[in-house]
Amino acid sequence: MESLVKISAIALIVFLVGCKADADESAQHDQATVATATKPEITVYKSPTCGCCKEWVTYLEEEGFAVSAIDHDNVDQIKVELGLPHAELRSCHTAIVDGYIVEGHVPASDIQRLLAEKPSDILGISAPGMPMMSPGMGSREPKDYEVLSFSASGETAVFSKY
Ligand code: CU
Ligand code: CU
Repeated sequence: MESLVKISAIALIVFLVGCKADADESAQHDQATVATATKPEITVYKSPTCGCCKEWVTYLEEEGFAVSAIDHDNVDQIKVELGLPHAELRSCHTAIVDGYIVEGHVPASDIQRLLAEKPSDILGISAPGMPMMSPGMGSREPKDYEVLSFSASGETAVFSKY
């Protein structure tokens, strides 16, 4: 009789441990689902041979974006097709997030701000050229450059300054 009680107790413990493991697993699964659902999606058009574009994609992924990177042999043509209003705004890669153009080495915080504010009067934002102290270039922390907003007709304004 005593041994039967022992066996039942062991069975109960095994059952409880097994049950707890299941519960943990499903909690983790739920978290993963939520994280994926809330990640902003961004599509990046880039040259297959350019290293800084690749670095910027990695940086965005680390900052919590769901990135679709598309290699293209003629990124300038993409910029024209998407409607980047003038050549002075050009950088290497061109991204699209929630209908906005994000050109060049723009910090993640500016993209998050764009998504939060959703300004209706601009077509996108750009870090023209190749700022040396920018994410994907020399520095994760942006330094010594400006991010400009631009309208479809080419009016620009300072969006942020580092
Ligand atoms: Cu670049
Ligand atoms: Cu690049």
